[in-house]
Amino acid sequence: MPVPSSLTAPILYADLDWIVEDGVEIPVSRQFGDVYFSKANGLAETRHVFLQGNELSGRLAQLQSHQYFCVGETGFGTGLNILALWQLWQQCRPNNHSRLHVITVEKFPLSHNDLQRALAAWPDLAHLSSQLIAQYPPALPGCHRLVFADERFSIDLWLGDATDCLPVIQSSHAVDAWFMDGFAPKCNPELWQENILKHLIRLSGPGTTFASFSVAGVVKQGLRQFGIKVTRPAGFGRKREMLKAWWPALGKNQALLDPSARPKAMLEVQEIETINNLFPSASPKAMPEVQGLEIRDQQVILKPTKTLPKIAIIGAGIAGLSMAHALASRGYACDLYDQEQPLAGASGNPRALLAPKLVSLSKFAGNLLNLGCLFSLRYWQQFAHVVEKTGMLHMLDKRAEQELEKASAYHHDIIEGLSASQSSAHLPSETSGTWSGIWFKQAGLLNPHALAQVILKNPAIQYSQAEIVQIKAVEESLGETSVIAPPLTASQWQLINSQQEILGRYDHVVICSALNSSLLCDSLPILKPIRGQVSWFIKPGNLAALPMPMTYGGYMAQLNQPEHEATVLLGASFIRQDAKTDIRLADHQHNLDLITAIAPALADRFPAITTWQGRAAIRAQSPDYLPLAGQIAGYAGLWTLTGLGSKGFSFAPLCAELLCAQLLGEAWPLSAHIATGIDPNRFVQARK
Ligand SMILES: Cc1cc2nc3c(=O)[nH]c(=O)nc-3n(C[C@H](O)[C@H](O)[C@H](O)COP(=O)(O)OP(=O)(O)OC[C@H]3O[C@@H](n4cnc5c(N)ncnc54)[C@H](O)[C@@H]3O)c2cc1C
Ligand SMILES: C[S@@+](CC[C@H](N)C(=O)[O-])C[C@H]1O[C@@H](n2cnc3c(N)ncnc32)[C@H](O)[C@@H]1O
Repeated sequence: MPVPSSLTAPILYADLDWIVEDGVEIPVSRQFGDVYFSKANGLAETRHVFLQGNELSGRLAQLQSHQYFCVGETGFGTGLNILALWQLWQQCRPNNHSRLHVITVEKFPLSHNDLQRALAAWPDLAHLSSQLIAQYPPALPGCHRLVFADERFSIDLWLGDATDCLPVIQSSHAVDAWFMDGFAPKCNPELWQENILKHLIRLSGPGTTFASFSVAGVVKQGLRQFGIKVTRPAGFGRKREMLKAWWPALGKNQALLDPSARPKAMLEVQEIETINNLFPSASPKAMPEVQGLEIRDQQVILKPTKTLPKIAIIGAGIAGLSMAHALASRGYACDLYDQEQPLAGASGNPRALLAPKLVSLSKFAGNLLNLGCLFSLRYWQQFAHVVEKTGMLHMLDKRAEQELEKASAYHHDIIEGLSASQSSAHLPSETSGTWSGIWFKQAGLLNPHALAQVILKNPAIQYSQAEIVQIKAVEESLGETSVIAPPLTASQWQLINSQQEILGRYDHVVICSALNSSLLCDSLPILKPIRGQVSWFIKPGNLAALPMPMTYGGYMAQLNQPEHEATVLLGASFIRQDAKTDIRLADHQHNLDLITAIAPALADRFPAITTWQGRAAIRAQSPDYLPLAGQIAGYAGLWTLTGLGSKGFSFAPLCAELLCAQLLGEAWPLSAHIATGIDPNRFVQARK
């Protein structure tokens, strides 16, 4: 699927004027000629129109454990609606594992400074706005997932024109409530047109509710033509009306959703459960692609499973750890196995670089590596001492002009092209000053060992050392097990270890075993082994400090840890079809040669390579250099996250979010075309 046109365009910031009302600064859009929130009291209006209009306090308060509630919004703006929703969530959320998620789109995001200025108007929300501002993404097209783990709350902020974002949004869970909050239809007609409504409907289902301050004909009629019931209760302040609408259920549920059959303030518990049950929480079924309008099958109403699924993960590298953490943070327990120990494979280096790649801006929204890198940088900030946002300087040896040209399309707070003299200013004086460079401001270093330690402390993750040699289907009808062969819809799976013992029965098994993945399921392609060795040594006193990692074909980074001497890390050799992990002087020499080629005077200060330490491991590379993430076709309940190649630390956490969305029934954190590109079955299809 091609990337839609406006997701290929640069994101322009909101162009604002500010007016002052009763001492409160209110942003006004120059692009649309309208205010972002009501002069009369934006927060009170938000609560009246969007929170009460969707009857959210009652619906949220009644969520059962592990139930997922999804709010959709057109027009993120200053984030005020979402902050008000978050505050309500804090006040009424049940003390269980229920979660609240928001999908929102924005064409012209406020700059970081403008967002701070706009949200300063709401001191009551300051404790929430500071968290939102801390995670507010850079102005780049595509989906940015913000996770507030302790709050059981998350936001997918899609940057780009709604006309282009909405068609690529996928969700395995219908949106439960919509905030329709474009500027007034006469200033902002494109956000209310049928083409937009069609996708709101595609992402909705029976029981979905809609609220808006606008009762313009285009909105009312637009919704009605899709069978949505529209009412016009009193609006906020002096506004006579607002819009409150819902998708009626069919058959026996119809009466429950009929307003005349409902109590005024909120739905009864049983009704809410029925409505919530309309959206199966455990359905991994993806929404259909929409060409025209496709409405979900209203007859299929699954009951949520009474017991939680049993889940096993094979392999405790960054793939398995990310998956285990994603599940545990949602309140799902899992068993995690590794044949040796956590981080025994490629993931166990002293540090991993979260390193984006310079792509033309028009390709950014379709680039999993860069979106994943941004997500990892943001997501792991929830733990102290795991990620250091250092930025990164990429030295340009060839095609410098083209690369600088590409970089110039980005906002300078994201990526900046530097001339040779400018890049020297960021480097130790021993670097020769002849290399221009690209300064990636959204890059960093991750400490895998600190991360594994904190993830494995989670009581929902049961780690055991075991080599899994076989995954066997449990065929209930026979009451015994047999070797798997597709197509197979086993109800459960057993894991067998190297002593031929059965380790447990699972509803879902996620294969995260790098090169060994294809040994556990022959539908998976054989991955290519690529040996790599990193080298490190204590920084000599006469070597100037390196302020940020440098890349140049290889990479050099300085590791600073309290109570340890600063260490220089050099990476990394790249030897195809070699799966041995012995430490070699030849690989140290290779790493030295790479840095010597660009900074000989710097390399002269290094100690002799015979004194260096190193670690060698094997990258598992897929045929097209993209991960394999998703359900394995023909094996219901078998999943994989593997083939992470040289960039696993950027890929894994976002892919784990995708797998959770598919497995548990949630909104997907990336576009349909990216998910298709990493479908683990793509090579099987290609062979046919
Ligand atoms: C030298 C080098 C430098 C790198 N630098 C970076 C970097 O800076 N940034 C970056 O993003 N990426 C980097 N990478 C790539 C990154 O390390 C990998 O993409 C990532 O670690 C892959 O993670 P994984 O969990 O898929 O695999 P692994 O980390 O290899 O984990 C697989 C795990 O599965 C276990 N396992 C296998 N078979 C079984 C079985 N049958 N039963 C039970 N357990 C099993 C293994 O013991 C292992 O622990 C580098 C790689 C190398 C080699
Ligand atoms: C009234 S404001 C939203 C206010 C916001 N909900 C809040 O809580 O602050 C409308 C928003 O819709 C955005 N918008 C307008 N047209 C859009 C489009 N075609 N695609 C995406 N966003 C759009 C505007 O940039 C603006 O931020």
